[in-house]
Amino acid sequence: MNDLLKQVGACLRDARRVAILTGAGISAESGIPTFRDALTGLWARFNPADLATPEAFFRNPERVSRWYDERRCQVAQCQPNPGHLALARLQKCMVGQGKTFALITQNVDRLHHAAGSTGVIELHGSLWVWRCVACGKEVEERGPAFDSYPPCCACGGFRRPGVVWFGEMLPAEALAAAERAVEACDYFMSIGTSAAVYPAAGLIAQALRTRANVLEVNPEETPFSARADWSIRGQSGQVLPRIVDEAFGVATAAHHQSEGSDGNRCTEES
Ligand code: APR
Repeated sequence: MNDLLKQVGACLRDARRVAILTGAGISAESGIPTFRDALTGLWARFNPADLATPEAFFRNPERVSRWYDERRCQVAQCQPNPGHLALARLQKCMVGQGKTFALITQNVDRLHHAAGSTGVIELHGSLWVWRCVACGKEVEERGPAFDSYPPCCACGGFRRPGVVWFGEMLPAEALAAAERAVEACDYFMSIGTSAAVYPAAGLIAQALRTRANVLEVNPEETPFSARADWSIRGQSGQVLPRIVDEAFGVATAAHHQSEGSDGNRCTEES
């Protein structure tokens, strides 16, 4: 494993344009269940047709909004893990060296943001943003659980979570920005996604069509594992910090230091 991480890290150090797609797996070590884990996955315990479609919401807005609000309150107790922090550090190191970096996520928990990542491309919306289905007004909700369900807007309309449900279109701008970043990248990472849901999984297929190096990190195999340059069976919170350390030097707690005269060492407070 060490030799593999050295090789993957060395290539990352030489990359000039990185694009990363993350899924629920990167937040698993923060205590947030994934969707498709056989036992603990949300869709192993709940039927997505009853909770994650616009039809389900209009059939039972009380139930659906309560379920998402409970998830919002659970996520509020969670912290970014070393996997999120490693990607935030990678962004700082790369941007500090004048290189390009794009972080694309399917997650709605904003733990990347909490870890310090900026310009995160959210393909599936956010649990923190609630939208009125009548007037369209969006409000970021960071407070305690709602008093009643479904929560209502000042206009009287029901409010729904600002996530993308099955059967709904992804935000066009976010998808276009993601496709541009993947088309231009020379190093692509697929982290913690089962690659089962499109069009997000299509970004992995797109990266494999380009000349980019493609890294996958997932404890389980995915439909793309055999085609990736490297497919590492491991937890992202353990693997990503080691890869970024290989590429940019071991992160020290001492102090922020941007890239020095040696050109490829970039340490910061971890
Ligand atoms: N580190 C890395 N990967 C992990 C970890 C971990 N610690 N733990 C689990 N995984 C992997 C699992 O093996 C699985 O392949 O993360 C993946 C999670 O897959 P899903 O639960 O299918 O989540 P995701 O791919 O993000 O789902 C895509 O589907 O339900 C919709 O909108 C929802 O955004 C979601 C989309």
